[in-house]
Amino acid sequence: MIIHHIQENNSILNKFISEIRDVTIQKDSLRFRRNIERIGEVLGYELSKELSYTNVDIKTPLGTSREKLISNDVVLCSILRAGLPLHQGLLNYFDDAENGFISAYRHHPNNNADFEIVVEYFAAPTIDNKTLLLADPMLATGQSLVAVLEAIKKYGEPKEIHIVSVIGAKDGIEFIKDKFPKNTHLWIAAIDEELNDKGYIVPGLGDAGDLAFGEKL
Ligand code: URA
Repeated sequence: MIIHHIQENNSILNKFISEIRDVTIQKDSLRFRRNIERIGEVLGYELSKELSYTNVDIKTPLGTSREKLISNDVVLCSILRAGLPLHQGLLNYFDDAENGFISAYRHHPNNNADFEIVVEYFAAPTIDNKTLLLADPMLATGQSLVAVLEAIKKYGEPKEIHIVSVIGAKDGIEFIKDKFPKNTHLWIAAIDEELNDKGYIVPGLGDAGDLAFGEKL
């Protein structure tokens, strides 16, 4: 796996990340969603540099301009529900991508901190030989991404996978590293040190789904 830790270099991205982490600012859910979307746009721009390009002649009012345009067939798949604003940010730039949605949740069979990931819903086009962008904003334990990798097998084998994440924990990244094909890229804005005993990233930001869409039962 090739890891791109985008906050390693300072940019306007730092402002978006600090706002989603800030315990006061993050309470404005409209701003929270929009910041995640803006982060999706930045990560999408960064990952676009790794895609394939082909020359296309574009007719202007005054002549012809040869432009290099992305030639990959992009399928954008997001893990519900926290992935939705990140999905929108990526879709703002990859506006002709096909789309897929996956619901994966933590099931606590013994009502304690132990959980397994259940993939319940998966709606996607074929991904065979296509470029799969997999959006999961919080890469905590990494278990949902691995469960999704298993579940997508029936949709074909992608040519390449780009995982797009906002904040990840070191242990989660370590966990997924060898489970995805070697040519997989991880585009991650921020990497945090720890997970707490409930599987939340520390310092992280809290529950991204709740902050974007409200608490659930
Ligand atoms: N999901 C979240 O929303 N936050 C975390 O810290 C971990 C998983």
